[in-house]
Amino acid sequence: MERVIWNGVPWFDRDGNVVNAHGACIVREGDVYYLFGEYKTNDENRYNGFSCYSTRDFEDWKFEGMALSAEAGGLLGPGRIGERVKVVKSAVTGKYVMLMHTDDLNYSDPCIGVAVCDTINGSYTFAGPLLYKGEKVRKWDMGTFVDEDGTAYLLTHEGNIYRLNAECTEAEELVAENIAPGGESPAMCRYGGKYYIMFSQKTSWERNDNYYLTADNIAGPWVMKGLFCPEGSLTYNTQCSYIFDCQTAEGSIKMYLGDRWSYPRQASAATLVMLPLAFEGGNMRISRYMQAWRPADGSEWREPCIRPLAFCSDVKGEGRQAEFCVSGGRVYLFGAASDEGGYCRVEIRNSEGRAVNEAVIDFYSAVPMKGLRYVSPELKSGEYTLCVTALGESGEWFQKDGTRFGSKGRRVDIYGFAAEPDSIEKDC
Ligand code: GAL
Repeated sequence: MERVIWNGVPWFDRDGNVVNAHGACIVREGDVYYLFGEYKTNDENRYNGFSCYSTRDFEDWKFEGMALSAEAGGLLGPGRIGERVKVVKSAVTGKYVMLMHTDDLNYSDPCIGVAVCDTINGSYTFAGPLLYKGEKVRKWDMGTFVDEDGTAYLLTHEGNIYRLNAECTEAEELVAENIAPGGESPAMCRYGGKYYIMFSQKTSWERNDNYYLTADNIAGPWVMKGLFCPEGSLTYNTQCSYIFDCQTAEGSIKMYLGDRWSYPRQASAATLVMLPLAFEGGNMRISRYMQAWRPADGSEWREPCIRPLAFCSDVKGEGRQAEFCVSGGRVYLFGAASDEGGYCRVEIRNSEGRAVNEAVIDFYSAVPMKGLRYVSPELKSGEYTLCVTALGESGEWFQKDGTRFGSKGRRVDIYGFAAEPDSIEKDC
């Protein structure tokens, strides 16, 4: 079966657990892609470790373990933040170097940290703060970029670019400064001799219209180019996190990796989105949103025949069930996300009534979005029951200045489901 990237729905690893990796990066090693991300909790921002998963196709995910766990004390100790983990390989030492944003829970002690490992998927050793001229780099949102000659760079919020030393363990030169005032979550790539750097605006976990700049030289001058997704789409409801090279049948493409956050239930309900970046005449864009697509040839997944399943509720415990049969395939749930959306629990029970998969789905989106909300792992042939239950809760969070973000309601709004391949009903 041709592999599909399922955007904006929870992914499951080989053990059936949700892939918990956010503010992530993807590093390729041979045919294998390693995903490193924040291993979130479902209640607060506290650092809970950085996870590592591997895949060859972005659909089959193997949990490699925790790349870095909580430290007993220090920058990543109890009561600290650890975010936006990025991994680069030193061309000189061959070691893997992990950089991350460390902070206190109020985000008032930002500092970039470093951890090192001999193997990409091993257990990284925390080495302390990243230094520039002997001082801590006191920045929060960060990213990394490795140039074609192997030189690695640290990117920070507001648009500072630091060249790292050959070991990637220190910042050696500030090559560009303050190129994106107000910008967060930097991600960068090089295409056709030009550098492209993207940023989000500062709205905490809320999505906004992200933008980009270009330059012929990494030191600048950097030119503001504007948005790379349609205005008002809030970057197709994502925050940029990373850009990586992805091999397809048609060659290498630049892949956008973004976060669809879901505070406080980040571990269960925050999701990832991957879309191909297109370049033309010095401009970069994501031409269209695809809820699911095949990276092998870029083709969009076609929705199967959707069977009606109407359920709209904001009352805790209210639910709906539907029975279905699959002959070795998946079940899909379709719904409408809105600014009044809340959380819903999805459970797939087998014929003995045992839950074979469960997930928490967020129906919140500041911009209305209809479509796939849940995709099960591949199920063995058999009869199952799909159970959806409103949790009567929704995401909300506050920025430092007290501004409230998140849902105005707690609504779960489902309109249909589908099973594929479906061994019983083939009526449309
Ligand atoms: C975002 C930032 C995230 C996280 C969040 C906390 O703007 O990109 O990494 O720090 O704020 O509110």
